[in-house]
Amino acid sequence: MDREITPEPPRAASEQVVVDVREVRKVYDTSGHRVTALAGLTLEVKAGCFTAIMGASGSGKSTLLHLVGGLTQATSGTILVEGHDLSAMSDRARTIFRRRRLGIVFQEYNLLPTLSAWENVALPWLVDGQPLGMIRQRVAELATLVHLEERLEHRPDALSGGEQQRVAIARALLNDPVIILADEPTGNLDSRQSLEIWQLLRSIAHDQGKTILMVTHEAMGAAHADDVIVLRDGQIIGTLAPRGSADAAMIATGYQELSG
Ligand SMILES: Nc1ncnc2c1ncn2[C@@H]1O[C@H](COP(=O)(O)OP(=O)(O)O)[C@@H](O)[C@H]1O
Ligand SMILES: [Mg+2]
Repeated sequence: MDREITPEPPRAASEQVVVDVREVRKVYDTSGHRVTALAGLTLEVKAGCFTAIMGASGSGKSTLLHLVGGLTQATSGTILVEGHDLSAMSDRARTIFRRRRLGIVFQEYNLLPTLSAWENVALPWLVDGQPLGMIRQRVAELATLVHLEERLEHRPDALSGGEQQRVAIARALLNDPVIILADEPTGNLDSRQSLEIWQLLRSIAHDQGKTILMVTHEAMGAAHADDVIVLRDGQIIGTLAPRGSADAAMIATGYQELSG
């Protein structure tokens, strides 16, 4: 069992590279039809950095997150996460590494509908048989962090989309991961709820020292990040550096110039 998880203190942003993607190609070959999803992509992400990934549909954004998350294997090239080559690990070691070091957030929240918010956040530790007092304390901490203290007894269908996504973010943080991967986390949310999620992710990176990779289509979302990379046809065609969360217009213009 996966029991020896100990919370670590917050990490400060540093020069340490936690995601190191080198010359990665990913070719999907389904029934003789080949699609090059990533075409020799190189990217370094430093600890505590919030990076937004933009690009048209089909440009390889989700494939990049799946590779960093060890959910799929590169065709060639290397991916080091905290210095570990995920492709060199056994399936079991990779699963354990993903559970301990990565938190993953999806557009659709992926909460279990029959469980309360509290149970959804606690579930991985409940399954592991962690002491209940420790689980209660950890879930309470996370509920404060995502501003959901008052909503923990509700099931997902009684929560707004933004609240459901905050439950999913709390669940992703349970094991105190070093990296959060978020694939269009605000894709189903209105602008006010989206703004709350971007502000929350920004504070999780800057106050908790988490490294965050977030796919987004929205300039306003990307403006909350420290760095923005723009993909086209499986390659990085440019980077943008917002000077603050009010820099959405610069991101929108820069993105259009790069992809136009
Ligand atoms: N499992 C798969 N099998 C075959 N082709 C895939 C698969 N996943 C993605 N692709 C293709 O790879 C390309 C990149 O996809 P994806 O990474 O999902 O792009 P994005 O997230 O930017 O929309 C697309 O052409 C897509 O159709
Ligand atoms: Mg995608």
